Amino acid sequence: MAQGRILIMSNLLEARELRKSYSRATGLLSGNGHGPRFTAVDGVSFSVECGETFAVVGESGCGKTTLARMLLRLIEPDAGEIQFDGQNLLTLGGEELRRQRQQMQMIFQDPFASLNPRMRVGEIVGEPLAIHEPGLSRTERRERVGVTLKRVGLNEDALARYPHEFSGGQRQRIGIARALAVQPSLIVCDEPVSALDVSIQAQVINLLERLQEQFKLTYLFIAHDLSVVRHISDRVAVMYVGKIVEITTRDRLYEQPLHPYTRALLSAVPIPDPVVERKRQRIILTGDVPSPVNPPKGCRLQPRCPFAQDICREVEPELVEVEPGHSVACHFWDRIRDQTQTPAFARDTTSPVSSADSTRNHVRAGAVSRQ
Ligand SMILES: Nc1ncnc2c1ncn2[C@@H]1O[C@H](COP(=O)(O)OP(=O)(O)OP(=O)(O)O)[C@@H](O)[C@H]1O
Ligand code: SF4
Ligand SMILES: [Mg+2]
Repeated sequence: MAQGRILIMSNLLEARELRKSYSRATGLLSGNGHGPRFTAVDGVSFSVECGETFAVVGESGCGKTTLARMLLRLIEPDAGEIQFDGQNLLTLGGEELRRQRQQMQMIFQDPFASLNPRMRVGEIVGEPLAIHEPGLSRTERRERVGVTLKRVGLNEDALARYPHEFSGGQRQRIGIARALAVQPSLIVCDEPVSALDVSIQAQVINLLERLQEQFKLTYLFIAHDLSVVRHISDRVAVMYVGKIVEITTRDRLYEQPLHPYTRALLSAVPIPDPVVERKRQRIILTGDVPSPVNPPKGCRLQPRCPFAQDICREVEPELVEVEPGHSVACHFWDRIRDQTQTPAFARDTTSPVSSADSTRNHVRAGAVSRQ
């Protein structure tokens, strides 16, 4: 989180109406791409300012990784625009694209799967340097790798070792070093701590914050853990079944969320004060997250939303800026804002379970403590 830093408010990255669909192949159809198509990311727009941490939060399967990969053009969008540093990324090819890609790196969720087990750490961290800075001599590359490893808290003796010789947290540091080595301006962090033990998560988050400060990095930070998001982000986008339903500043989101889905997610986060915790209302969403293959008509949340009215079943709400810097996709955001009480049928007065979702997919409420 950019506490104490002066943010230069210009956009580094802009996504406009990004879309990606896949075919859901099953059984005999598996692998031939002829199953029913569904839209994993459906018209997503947002911008990321230089030097900020922009978080994208949402349940498993809502399209976060698909979005991240499109932003780096690791997969091609079906439609939409991506502007990076003033350039239309989707029209770039060859050398121009390679140069822009140097500026946009990624840290992956799984530090075990994302590092090639047959490569030594020196080769793993040096590989992007060989691609993006081919003019470096072997010695210069080795030096750069050594310096980068130190920056992420690893010794130079790591150079000759293999990933399996490291702990999960150390492996994620290697992944961070690989992203950092080519001196990018944007790092897309796809759930970089969710595979780590809670005790290690805070260390890796602190490292990311320190590196951001030191190298003026911009982060697009994907997470499903709201405590991590609260700790690290400047602004937050909330995704639900392929769409962004709310974007605002971190503080605004936690103080006054306007979308019922965001409210439900946040009402699952435990409050450290037992008195406040006992008194607060919870919004429980009933039912399962709908399949993106066959999303509900109108608003995607309507079958589960305690505020739903007839219009919600017919008309899909657009994401609109309802207050400066605060956008929400809900027909009734203003009523929800002005309401101190949730609808009676949405209140959970009996259950001690705080769950935004009774299904297998849920957003985790806590791991890294707030500062
Ligand atoms: N290559 C692919 N082919 C077909 N379907 C895919 C492919 N990649 C992702 N999907 C599907 O697209 C949807 C979005 O997947 P995505 O990985 O973007 O979700 P996510 O929000 O990152 O989830 P998680 O939190 O579990 O990582 C899911 O239903 C997923 O099964
Ligand atoms: S548009 Fe209707 S169904 Fe959708 S979130 Fe708002 S109130 Fe709920
Ligand atoms: Mg993912």
